[in-house]
Amino acid sequence: MSVTSTVVCPVCGRVSDRFATTPTGRVNALCPGCHCLERHRFMVLVLEALAAERTPTGTVIDVAPSRQVSPLIKAVRPESYLSIDFDPGADGRLVDVAASLTDLPVRTGSTSLLVCYHVLEHIPDDHKAMSEIARVLDTDGVALLQVPWRDRDTDEDPSAGPDERLERFGQADHVRFYGTDFVARLEKNGLAVTEVTPADLLPPDLVTMLGVIPGEKVWICTRTDSGAFDLETVRGRLPEALTAALARMVSVSGADTVLASDTLESLHLARADAAMWRQRYEALRNRLPVRAMIAVRRKFSRGASR
Ligand SMILES: C[S@@+](CC[C@H](N)C(=O)[O-])C[C@H]1O[C@@H](n2cnc3c(N)ncnc32)[C@H](O)[C@@H]1O
Ligand SMILES: [Zn+2]
Repeated sequence: MSVTSTVVCPVCGRVSDRFATTPTGRVNALCPGCHCLERHRFMVLVLEALAAERTPTGTVIDVAPSRQVSPLIKAVRPESYLSIDFDPGADGRLVDVAASLTDLPVRTGSTSLLVCYHVLEHIPDDHKAMSEIARVLDTDGVALLQVPWRDRDTDEDPSAGPDERLERFGQADHVRFYGTDFVARLEKNGLAVTEVTPADLLPPDLVTMLGVIPGEKVWICTRTDSGAFDLETVRGRLPEALTAALARMVSVSGADTVLASDTLESLHLARADAAMWRQRYEALRNRLPVRAMIAVRRKFSRGASR
């Protein structure tokens, strides 16, 4: 079996025939290894590309952390990692501090990285939340944001009851469904915004192999006074980010479906947590299973030159 006929999860490294269907019926979504979703898989690639480009010196804030990707966010700067959630008990989320995005417990200009996926649509005063993000970022700081989004005006009503919310916003605990004015809202609250999708950065065959949604937007934000973000820096670092993801791949069972067993044996690799992988990545990269690495690199350069 070759790597080209399988899917690979860049979060946990699991290699499988396909991603599983979600309970709501979305096909090719759930990783059978770590249960991450499409958005998490694209997030880790952008994150690794960013981390390779910038050396964070400040706090790393993980808002409403998800079990699968938090170890990778923490690995960016473990000594300054802070996870928060307004209501950690709600989803059984484990956090360092129970706090609201509308009132972050960190100093102004102290934060190198803030990751906030699928939270703003829960917050009645999202302007306050957005201005808090702008307040805490340092001059080189980056916020990675994602919200459910559709191509029409934002529809919102924090006073709507649960049934109406479900009907209008897709979930009983959402107070809005964001649309075309989302970027303007961020800008109004002190953020410079670069919109990016998997299709912008990855060739189609990698979009399929990594199980990401081609048009699913991520908003990379910096403070307005530090200038717009240069997307080329992320694009340029993606092959490296993919290599890091493949380093994780060799650590899990199932990798032998694409890697020669003697390669695995010679690596003496055991299943390991993601933070350790991050630390060992530099040391390991020269010993990575060449066949899998080359296959992905080829895919990337073929697509990039199209
Ligand atoms: C859909 S979940 C987040 C999922 C996760 N980030 C991911 O991408 O898989 C939404 C979370 O936002 C949290 N939340 C809602 N309002 C918040 C606020 N004002 N500040 C911080 N977290 C909030 C909820 O408690 C809930 O845990
Ligand atoms: Zn996975």
